[in-house]
Amino acid sequence: MSRPRIVVTRRIPALALELLGSAGELWVSPVDEPLPVAELHAAIAGADAVVTMLHDRVDDAFLDAAGPALRIVADVAVGFDNVDVAACTSRGVVVTNTPGVLTEATADIAMALVLMSTRRLGEAERLVRAGASWSWSMFFHLGVGIQGKTLGIIGLGQIGQATARRARAFGMEIAYAGPRRRPPEVEAALDASYLPLDELLSTAAVVSLHCPLTGETRHLIGTRELELMQATAFLINTTRGPVVDEGALVEALGAAVIAGAGLDVYEHEPDIHPGLLELENVVLLPHLGSATLETRTAMAMLAARNVVAVLAGETPLTAVGQG
Ligand code: DGY
Repeated sequence: MSRPRIVVTRRIPALALELLGSAGELWVSPVDEPLPVAELHAAIAGADAVVTMLHDRVDDAFLDAAGPALRIVADVAVGFDNVDVAACTSRGVVVTNTPGVLTEATADIAMALVLMSTRRLGEAERLVRAGASWSWSMFFHLGVGIQGKTLGIIGLGQIGQATARRARAFGMEIAYAGPRRRPPEVEAALDASYLPLDELLSTAAVVSLHCPLTGETRHLIGTRELELMQATAFLINTTRGPVVDEGALVEALGAAVIAGAGLDVYEHEPDIHPGLLELENVVLLPHLGSATLETRTAMAMLAARNVVAVLAGETPLTAVGQG
């Protein structure tokens, strides 16, 4: 019997490739960038397993191109909005993601953005690097403090909770909104209050987005929601860009409807709305949420373990759609 064909659409750590290689014949994309759709589809033909990244669109065309041997799509990300899970499930293809292993790294970036935006650290670094003259003075480059203020978390899942723990250590109060209330022990551990979305938006000093991107959360934050926020408030996004209407955000930041924003993700990534690039009151990071060596290795290893399990006829560790 021939060995299963395993396709990896982009470079991943060697340890994970080694594990995958023990389970089948590997094809790894020779370029470390997203494969154009036609090349992606050609590469996955006849695959039993495909290890995908957030920029690979897994839809009916992908599944047609792969063919009937495909048993698993192992997405190396916690957010799997790039995968049509229903289409996979209807063809008996298991979908897995990588929850848990990137929680702390992503929460670190969310907290970093809270600090960078409220203390205007991006602007400050640009000023120093530009060689501008500066000296300490009572009113030089003032930001705002976060102690005693409320962090409003939209989506109190694992990453939202990890961000809340960090914010508590910085003296913030926690409020959250989401489709359902978390268990009492989760609320008690964070001393978190559950609020309707509009109330959270209108009362929080900083709003941090941690909900997955779905049909319901696309453009969850638009003009109306930004106008509900306080003029002194900040918006942080480390989840997926399309949760925010980027055009509306540019308008709101430009017109001082809110005080600032910190973004790690963009609506049309890697393109960034040109208006954002013009603004001083927004911190822009290039999707670094899970970008530590340890985290990326753990993500790739979890994806590889899922592939090995499914090809061995076992239950995957972290399935999101059971084929
Ligand atoms: C995820 O896991 O969803 C991250 O955004 C990928 O870095």
